[in-house]
Amino acid sequence: MKQAIIDLSYLVSAILFIYGLKRLQSPATARQGNQLAALGMLVAVVATLFMQEILTPAQMLLGVVVGGGIGAIMARRVQMTGMPELVAAFNGFGGIASTLVAGAEIAHIMAIGEGMLGVVTAITIALSILIGTVTFTGSFVAFGKLSGRVSGNPISFPGMRLMTLLLVAAVVGGAAWMVIGAADFPVVADPVVLGALVVAGAALLLGILLVIPIGGADMPVVVALLNSYSGLAAAATGFVLDNTVLIVSGALVGASGLILTNIMCVAMNRSLLNVLVGGFGGDSGDTSTGAGPAADMGSVNSTTADDVAIMLAYASKVIFVPGYGMAVAQAQHAVRELAEELEKKGVDVRFAVHPVAGRMPGHMNVLLAEANVSYDKLFEMDEINGEFDTTDVAVVIGANDVVNPAARHDKASPIYGMPILNVDHAATSIVLKRSMRPGYAGIDNELFYNSNNQMLFGDAKESISNVVTEVKAL
Ligand code: TAP
Repeated sequence: MKQAIIDLSYLVSAILFIYGLKRLQSPATARQGNQLAALGMLVAVVATLFMQEILTPAQMLLGVVVGGGIGAIMARRVQMTGMPELVAAFNGFGGIASTLVAGAEIAHIMAIGEGMLGVVTAITIALSILIGTVTFTGSFVAFGKLSGRVSGNPISFPGMRLMTLLLVAAVVGGAAWMVIGAADFPVVADPVVLGALVVAGAALLLGILLVIPIGGADMPVVVALLNSYSGLAAAATGFVLDNTVLIVSGALVGASGLILTNIMCVAMNRSLLNVLVGGFGGDSGDTSTGAGPAADMGSVNSTTADDVAIMLAYASKVIFVPGYGMAVAQAQHAVRELAEELEKKGVDVRFAVHPVAGRMPGHMNVLLAEANVSYDKLFEMDEINGEFDTTDVAVVIGANDVVNPAARHDKASPIYGMPILNVDHAATSIVLKRSMRPGYAGIDNELFYNSNNQMLFGDAKESISNVVTEVKAL
């Protein structure tokens, strides 16, 4: 009876996870999807703890208060620009949890001392420790790079490849040692424990070595990949514990993390291999490289808030293109206000969202949703790219690479082949940024030099607020 209730609860959890993931497909239902998946996790946790009586209710309450409290504080405090590093830290915690559970299972099996550790279980424990530990250290290096605590530049040293190979060999050797120990009956404790320690130690270093050579600006892709690893570690731990809901949830995280990694790579027109060994992009997202305008691209037209206000108020169709700079400036509320003011004047206003605008998947969608921009105004790149030809003004708010026409024709450009938003097809484009410094890819943007383009220099929030004031006065 007890087992039936646990199994039924796990089934409910798995359904909630899958349904929650499905609801994450659209910004309109994403919030609900998140809540459903969280509910699924609560059902799974409660069923596991209550029904198997692993801990006392007081211990569980303590865990919920401490863990939940830390999570709530971190989630409330994080700035939108700091979200990728928070996700990286959470992935790291997921990875180390898998390692610790696998370690506890070894201790448990040794304690009952009945030679119950089969070869298959030993392999799953080794996998759980390996993937969990690599995820742990890799995620914290990614966290360090994203938060500026570790240099965002790709780091490598002589002999790094050899060291990586030696560590892989150590992992294989340690795992083999565990399996040999487990195959003996009764289980030989020393080889299993020592083998597990070798796997864990080598994996700790391996996680660091796998992430340090990757440029800080590529960290969002790495974070998605590590997220997938944390799911695989959880699934391996599920096999160790013979726990269905852990296997299901781990597999869902593993698969969705891989799909997300692939979506990002496709949207940047880069292979995963290129991301992992390419050393693309320097520092961690701050775009201030100090580079000036390219000498051979001509000059740019700069404009003022009142001119922009007039242009926008008398346009019939305007498309806003947000980018990383909107997140940095926290300009989303001012942008929503401007859109509302223009709509009051009968302007058709839309938002064009590039899949990798910003520094994490869905970055722009989250910001605009936070500012209450209606979902039906948000258009994905493929839906809106044909619309720029019939648009009077395209307003680029702190975006750069995702609107750089060089991606279409300049084979020498690092972003060649990356799909872009066709801002240059609009009758007029206005770009809001603070300087002529390049964006994430570190290259100049030929859009800025077009004769029908105007630059409104300054912090995006301040510039948009000034335009709102002028539009209201018209
Ligand atoms: P970027 O190309 O990085 O350009 C952002 C621009 O915002 C900069 O040129 C910067 O110019 C401006 N800016 C910064 N702070 C500002 C402020 N306070 N006010 C006004 N402007 C400000 O961003 P993007 O167009 O969003 O493109 C995203 C890039 O990140 C792509 O290259 C993409 O491949 C890469 N990437 C994205 C992801 C995901 S999942 N989103 C993952 C990996 C890589 P100033 O310094 O002159 O102000």
